[in-house]
Amino acid sequence: MPESFLLKYISEPDQADLETYLSRGGYAGLRRALSIAPEAVIDEVDKSGLRGRGGAGFPTGRKWRFIPKDPAITRYLVVNADEGEPGTFKDRTLMEGDPHQLIEGIIISSYAIGARHAFIYLRREFSTARDALTGAIAQARSAGYLGRNILRSGYDLEIVLATGAGAYMAGEETALLESLEGRRAMPRLKPPFYPAVKGLYMQPTAVNNVETLCHVTWIFAKGYQWYKAQGTPILISVSGHVARPGVYEVPLATTIRKVIELAGGVRGGRKFKACFPGGSSSAILPEAYLDTPMDYDALPKVDVPGTMLGSAALIVMDETACMVEIIGRTVEFYRDESCGKCTPCREGTVWLGQVFHRMLHGQGRTEDLDLLSGIAKGMTGTCFCPLGESVPPSLNASLRFFRHEYEHHIRTGRCDVREKYAA
Ligand SMILES: Cc1cc2nc3c(=O)[nH]c(=O)nc-3n(C[C@H](O)[C@H](O)[C@H](O)COP(=O)(O)O)c2cc1C
Ligand code: SF4
Repeated sequence: MPESFLLKYISEPDQADLETYLSRGGYAGLRRALSIAPEAVIDEVDKSGLRGRGGAGFPTGRKWRFIPKDPAITRYLVVNADEGEPGTFKDRTLMEGDPHQLIEGIIISSYAIGARHAFIYLRREFSTARDALTGAIAQARSAGYLGRNILRSGYDLEIVLATGAGAYMAGEETALLESLEGRRAMPRLKPPFYPAVKGLYMQPTAVNNVETLCHVTWIFAKGYQWYKAQGTPILISVSGHVARPGVYEVPLATTIRKVIELAGGVRGGRKFKACFPGGSSSAILPEAYLDTPMDYDALPKVDVPGTMLGSAALIVMDETACMVEIIGRTVEFYRDESCGKCTPCREGTVWLGQVFHRMLHGQGRTEDLDLLSGIAKGMTGTCFCPLGESVPPSLNASLRFFRHEYEHHIRTGRCDVREKYAA
């Protein structure tokens, strides 16, 4: 594995302190970025091949090119620090351990798109990250990296730290903008409300993920050639039944099997059963898919619809996991987080929850399996936003690969997996 860099200093004491950050080469990338034209900054990000780490994997440079260049138009950068996808905890790790790495990426990126204000939309529960960022912003401002005439370049930028109320929906970029403007986090209709066209306060806005912006810092610290030579790194949040859960920095396209090995393998020498490769919104994959590369293109190509890299949150389940229980719990999550704007998601998640509840309480019916498939079908392609569309993939995959577990629950009213591993 190449040397890690995004996580390099994350556990070092005082990394959040400006002097320490500077002593390790911090803000050198910003100096270089400010010495070239904004357009050249975007070119370099394009050449690096960076794709957004928030879930959709959209090329970052291309996204920035959608922002109009007319200096008379107010533009914004919004940092998506909501991190609500179950199993994802890389952004929190970055913000808590190395806040200047993010601040530097924000300044470079804002300069690239001509924004004079950047907003960090932070999940309220992340109080440690909030303290780290508040301190880092104040230090950066008093040292001339923020505010007016940054490093005598003539460029001005203010960063505003805003906290959300901890709703998963608020991570979707248009719902986030609604929340930032003081309304309930519900998604906007696209078109016309593409953030790059009509974003925050109806002004052109680039919404970027925390990790994405930390990559920008390194692209400018070391150059895009160096960055690419590292194998295009990515952070994977590994959780569930592994020996060493945590955030791992690996080259893009490392296989699922290799990432699990890095995390110490399946805990207690147990047998691997299945995983969510990209958070709970991605379809689950059983053992036969362990050699699939974790990247944007390979995962959607496997023959399990809805498999994707997403936020690169690998949730591992061993043989002790009951798949009916796992998918039932996932359904409850989406039911509770549904914003209620459209019927297929609002009603579909409630109906699914009711079916799972009776199956898990010994009252499953033979017709329930068809009912689950039917509801999943009714939700596919009909929901207003990706939240509702995230429910069917795992449900369908579990019905395909672990149907016998559902049938056992319905036939006996009991869970054979639980009974087998109860002791
Ligand atoms: C329901 C839902 C929740 C999301 N939550 C997050 C999140 O917590 N953080 C994030 O960066 N992106 C999240 N996204 C993706 C954002 O809409 C958006 O694509 C992303 O912030 C863009 O940044 P990037 O291009 O740097 O990846 C979510 C999307 C959906 C549909
Ligand atoms: S799919 Fe769900 S979360 Fe998205 S708009 Fe519809 S009800 Fe709201």
